Amino acid sequence: MKIAVVGSGYVGLVAAACFAEIGHEVICVDNDDEKLAALDRGETPIHEQYLPELLARHRGKRLEFSCSLPDAVRASSAVYIAVGTPPLASGDADLSYVETVAREIAHSLNGYKVVVEKSTVPVYTSQWVRRVMQLAGASSSDFDVVSNPEFLREGTAVSDFLFPDRIVIGADSERASEIVQKIYAPLALGTYYRQSASIPQPAKAEVPPRVLVTSAKSAELIKHASNAFLALKISFINAVANICEAVDADIEQVALGMGTDSRIGKRFLRAGIGYGGSCFPKDVAAFRSVARECGYEFPMLDEIVSVNEEQRRRFLKKVRTALWTLRGKRLAVLGLSYKGGTDDVRESPAIEIIRSLLREQCSIVAYDPAAVDRARQELAGDVTYAEDPYQAAVGADALLILTDWEEFGTLDLLRLKSLLRYPIIVDGRNLYSREVMHKHGFLYLSVGRATTELAPGAASALKLNRKSDS
Ligand SMILES: NC(=O)c1ccc[n+]([C@@H]2O[C@H](COP(=O)([O-])OP(=O)(O)OC[C@H]3O[C@@H](n4cnc5c(N)ncnc54)[C@H](O)[C@@H]3O)[C@@H](O)[C@H]2O)c1
Repeated sequence: MKIAVVGSGYVGLVAAACFAEIGHEVICVDNDDEKLAALDRGETPIHEQYLPELLARHRGKRLEFSCSLPDAVRASSAVYIAVGTPPLASGDADLSYVETVAREIAHSLNGYKVVVEKSTVPVYTSQWVRRVMQLAGASSSDFDVVSNPEFLREGTAVSDFLFPDRIVIGADSERASEIVQKIYAPLALGTYYRQSASIPQPAKAEVPPRVLVTSAKSAELIKHASNAFLALKISFINAVANICEAVDADIEQVALGMGTDSRIGKRFLRAGIGYGGSCFPKDVAAFRSVARECGYEFPMLDEIVSVNEEQRRRFLKKVRTALWTLRGKRLAVLGLSYKGGTDDVRESPAIEIIRSLLREQCSIVAYDPAAVDRARQELAGDVTYAEDPYQAAVGADALLILTDWEEFGTLDLLRLKSLLRYPIIVDGRNLYSREVMHKHGFLYLSVGRATTELAPGAASALKLNRKSDS
C-alpha cells in the first residue's frame, strides 16, 4: 500500500522505515529542511537500534523523504500524522501541529484517504481532526480518521514497532478499519516474521501480535491510560524505595518479590531517579487535563508526578550526604539521556539534576554514549564532556550514575577507583549490587537500599586525602 507519514521524528521515522520494511511504499514528510537534508545524505538523525540498517535497505526504493505534504497525500491511500504534541503550560497537549497537518491534508485530497493519528492525542481528537478537515473544505465521504496509537519505546523502537504486544486500531468506519488492518497484515498474519532478512525477534515477543479493533475514542484513551499506568508503576516502586530507605530494607529484593507475581510483572518496577522523556511527563499531564475536562478529578495522577519530582530532590540530597557541601566540587556524571539506548534528552532527569548541581556551583564532567550533542544544546557551555566514563572520573570528588545505559553497569571498578579523587559513587539507577561496591571499597549510595560505607582502609585513606587537601 502507498502510505504517507507526516513527521520524521522518533515515531514518524521509525514508523516510515518499518512500514517500508513490511512491504509498503512510503513517503515520509517533514517541514524541517535540515532533517530532510540529513536523511537524503544517508544519515540517521536519531540513535535507534536497527534504524540505520532499515534506512539503508529501503531509502530511495520503498522509502522516500519529501517536504511536500500535498504530493505525499495525493500519492497515498493512508496518511499517518506523527508530529509532536508537546505540553502547554496548562498541561494540555498542544494539538496545533496536528491541526495544521489535518488542514493541509484536507487541501490535498484527491480521492478517499484514511487519516491516521499516530501522535499521542487526547480523547476526541479524531473528531476534531474530522471537523477541521471538513471546515477546510474536505468532503466527509473523502476521508475517515482512525486512531492507531504507538507504543514503541525509544532505544528499542524498531523492534517494538515490528514485534508489538498489540496493535490498536480505533476506527469508527468499517472501510477505514479494513485499510489500516491491511497495512499491518504482514505483522498480524505473521508473514513478515518468516522472511529471511527480518529484524531479529526479541526474546519475549509473541508473534503474531494481537490486533485490537476499537472505537477511535477508546484507542485514544488506551494510549493515555497506558502511559499513565506505566508512570504510576515507576512512581509506586520509587515510593516503596523511600520506605525501604527508612527501614533499611532492600528495594531490589522487594521489587523482585512483587514483580514475580504474574499479576504485577517485573517491568517498570525499577527504582531510580524517576521517569522522563517526551512521553510520560506530558502524557500524564494531558490525561489529567482530559479527566478534568470530563468532570472527573483524578488525584492519583497528581501523586504520580509529585513522587517523580521528589525522587530527583532525594537524589540531590544523597549527593549532599556523600559530599557534605557541593560548592566547587567536581562531579563525574554518567548519562544524559532520559534512559539508556536513546539520544533523547527531552525531560531527562539527568539534565534536570545537572542543572541543579550547576546552580550549586559544582563543576560537571559528563559522559553519555549517544546524547552529548543534544545535551550540549540544553546545557549551554556549562558542562565539560568526556570521551568515556574513565575520562569523566579523573580527579572527580564523586561519580554519579544518572542513566541506565547497559555499559554503565559493567565498568572496571578498580580503574574507576584509581581515577576518582574519592571512592564515592551515587547511583540513581541501581546498576550495581551493594556487595560488589563494598568489595571494591566504595562509599556507594543508591535508591531504596542502605548505603555501602567505605571499607575501613579506604576510610582512613579518605581522611588522609582530606587532611592533605586542607
Ligand atoms: N518518542 C516516543 O517514544 C513516542 C512514543 C509513542 C508516541 N509518541 C508520540 O508521537 C508523536 C511524535 O513524537 P516524536 O517523539 O516522534 O516527536 P518529534 O518531535 O521527534 O518529531 C516530530 C516531527 O514532526 C515534524 N513536524 C512538525 N510539524 C510538521 C508539519 N506541519 N509538517 C511536517 N512535519 C512536521 C517535526 O519537524 C519533527 O521532525 C507525539 O505525539 C508523541 O507523544 C512518541
